[in-house]
Amino acid sequence: MTRHQLDDLLDLATRVKGKRPGQVLGGKTLGMLFFQPSLRTRVSFEVAMQQLGGHCINLSADDMYELEPSEQAIMDGRAEEHVKDAARTLSRYVDALGVRAAARTGTWTRDRQELLLRSYAEHASVPVINLETVFEHPCQALGDVLTMRENLVSLQGRKLTLLWCNHPEPKSLGPTHSVLQLAALMGMEITLAHPLGFEVDEEVLQRSKDAAADAGGSLQVVNDREVAADGAEVLYARSWGCTKYWDDAEREAMVKRSLQDWRVDAELMARTNQALLMHPLPVRRNVAATDEVLDGDRSRIYDQAANRAHVQKALLMQLIK
Ligand code: CP
Repeated sequence: MTRHQLDDLLDLATRVKGKRPGQVLGGKTLGMLFFQPSLRTRVSFEVAMQQLGGHCINLSADDMYELEPSEQAIMDGRAEEHVKDAARTLSRYVDALGVRAAARTGTWTRDRQELLLRSYAEHASVPVINLETVFEHPCQALGDVLTMRENLVSLQGRKLTLLWCNHPEPKSLGPTHSVLQLAALMGMEITLAHPLGFEVDEEVLQRSKDAAADAGGSLQVVNDREVAADGAEVLYARSWGCTKYWDDAEREAMVKRSLQDWRVDAELMARTNQALLMHPLPVRRNVAATDEVLDGDRSRIYDQAANRAHVQKALLMQLIK
C-alpha cells in the first residue's frame, strides 16, 4: 500500500463506521477459507458483508480437500486437488476470496513465501484477501492503525513500541510484520523490542526502516523491554516465533523458559507516556499481559477487534465492484 491508499481506506472506514453505507454489496458473496481457527477475523468479515448487503460462505480445513500449491507437481501424494483448480472454481462462484493460511510447514525460508495464499492469488480471477499468514496479517494492522488514529489523531512522529511477549506456543509473525509496515508508512517513531533470537524477518525490517525514514519517522530495535517502554505512547504487545528454530518448537519452548518477564504489567505501563495498550488477540492472560493492564482504562484491545469490521467494510467496498 502507498500512504495515499492507506489514508483513503482509513477515511472510508471512518465514514462507514459513523454511518452505515447501505446495501452497496447486495447480491455479492465473499468466500472465506480458514485453514486455522479464527474468532475475530471470521465474525468481523461476516458482519462486514452482512452490513453491506452481501453474504459469506466459510469453509474450514475439514471441509476442503488437501491442496497442492506447487506448480507442475506430480500429485501422487496426499493432496487431492491443486490450488489452481480450487481457486479457478471458487472464482466462478464468489466475488472475493479470503484465505487464512498460517500453518508452519517447514523452514522459515519456505513459510515466509506464503505459498498457499500466493497460489490462490495467482490463480483466482477475483480479489484474494490475506486473512493471516505467518508472514503478514494486513487486515489486523488496518484495524490497529485505525484504532491508533482515533486515539492520537495524527500518527506522524508518535511513539509506538512493538513489544515481544512470552507465549507457550510459537506464534506467527503476521501481526507484527503488518503493524510494523503500516506504522512506518504513517511516519511513527517505532521501537521494536524483543529478546535476542526473536528478530523479525530481515527484509520486512529493512523495508519498514526505509518507509519510516521516507515518511519522517524512525525505527529502532532494542533488546530491553524496560528501555522500550520508556516514553511510549502506544505499547503494542504480541508474541512471535523464533525464525531460527521455526521447525523446532521444543527448542523454542526451551529458550522461552528464561523469558517469562517479557510480559506487560502495571510497572511496565508506568514507564510509558500513558500509553494505549494494544494486542491483536487472542491473548494469554497473565502470560503476555496481566489482567490488570488488559482490563485497565488504557487498554484498547476490544476497540482493535471492533475496528476490524469497519476497515474490512471499506476494503470490501474498494475490492468488490
Ligand atoms: N486477531 C485475529 O486475527 O483474531 P482471530 O485469530 O480470532 O481471527
